[in-house]
Amino acid sequence: MKSFIAAPEVNEIIRLLALAKDIKGSPENYRQFGVNKTLVLLFFNPSLRTRLSTEKAGLNLGMQVISMNADNGWKIEFEEGAIMDGDSAEHVKEAAAVVSQYASIIGIRSFPSLVQRDKDYQEEVISAFVKYASVPVVSLESATRHPLQSFADLLTIEEFKQKDRPKVVLSWAPHPRALPQAVPNSFVEWMRRANVDLVVTHPKGYHLSTDFMGDAYVTTNQNEAFDGADFIYAKNWSSFENYGAILSKDPSWTITAEKMALTSKAKFMHCLPVRRNVIVADEVIDGPDSIVIAQANNRTWAAQAVLYDLLKG
Ligand code: CP
Repeated sequence: MKSFIAAPEVNEIIRLLALAKDIKGSPENYRQFGVNKTLVLLFFNPSLRTRLSTEKAGLNLGMQVISMNADNGWKIEFEEGAIMDGDSAEHVKEAAAVVSQYASIIGIRSFPSLVQRDKDYQEEVISAFVKYASVPVVSLESATRHPLQSFADLLTIEEFKQKDRPKVVLSWAPHPRALPQAVPNSFVEWMRRANVDLVVTHPKGYHLSTDFMGDAYVTTNQNEAFDGADFIYAKNWSSFENYGAILSKDPSWTITAEKMALTSKAKFMHCLPVRRNVIVADEVIDGPDSIVIAQANNRTWAAQAVLYDLLKG
């Protein structure tokens, strides 16, 4: 791999999955691989899991790790040919080239504006870093995708599945704030390449981009979706069509014990952070079928597999 910003091909996913399992099983075999290499992580937005798990992944490989809150740094210009007489102090052409001299791999987290859909879906920030950096770039969640999360999600489903081809349900759930579509987009993108029966359920008005959905099965009947499910992956997202809008806060979409009873004793998943008793009832997330902590643990092993693969070149 040259960079990691989207879902790779199926064969690559199978190979990465095997690598992540091996790293998780025998981390000591990989401890020297990143010695004298540097991982630089630039965060234009906050993070707990992605930041710490990716830092840990780099440290596990023996890398030096530098993280920077880039939202506090110089405002970066991304427009080609811009006359920089406004707020922006530095163009991404210099910023990416300079950071590349300090880094063996650059990680970038940059959320969408949720105002201009076309601009967000063009992935201006991460695309510019890929274009102007001279080292591999890893997405730590971009405007439209969160591939490290989805890779960890797939690893978790592999570990907990009880049948070869489990039924995996991505369910919209309410949230007080407008959230990006990055996690659901990526989850669908990865699950469509995996050996699972994927069902997506959301209220009317919350369909995702057809570029990500493809021919995935969608229903606005959450109960129908939950019937016989092996995994329930809850997530809120704001409207794609009425871009960034909150169209519903309907509490009947909250994941409750009654809803989980419709499933085939499904495991409960969420990428975290999660709003308790809004997205999911306490009794579900605290219950024996909740695997959110194991899921977050797998962020380290997924990230370590990606960093190792990029270092190997
Ligand atoms: N799931 C996830 O990306 O968490 P953070 O926003 O805390 O990194």
